[in-house]
Amino acid sequence: MDTIALVESAKAARALAHAPYSNFPVGAALECSDGTVFTGCNVENLSFGLTMCAERVAVGNAVSAGRRDFRRIAIAADTDAPISPCGACRQVLAEFHPSLQILSANLKGQIEEFSLTDLLPRASTGILNRP
Ligand code: THU
Repeated sequence: MDTIALVESAKAARALAHAPYSNFPVGAALECSDGTVFTGCNVENLSFGLTMCAERVAVGNAVSAGRRDFRRIAIAADTDAPISPCGACRQVLAEFHPSLQILSANLKGQIEEFSLTDLLPRASTGILNRP
């Protein structure tokens, strides 16, 4: 899938967000090595702390369908500058691909690209005594 199409998938997922508390819908589209895409949106909860971010919902969708071979993730939100995933999502994404390519788009047409290695260095160092 080309970059624009992946971003459009993230925008379409964003439209499904349940975000009545923040009014900040986010969409994510996680691409596997064969081009299959799994999407996610944020799912908020009255107790706030139970909120699930779009990225982690996309990971859950993919893993529960038997897929872990991720190539890229696109995320979309309505902000001045493209957002970057929260710390919890960085750690969850690193579980499957520590250098995952992240494309972040806003609705103004800007797309920023990150590597997860830069956003979360040493993702596994020191956890379970790993060097
Ligand atoms: N959120 C995401 O879904 N992904 C991000 O990368 C940033 C934040 C959600 C969580 C919450 O529902 C709302 O955006 C405000 O933080």
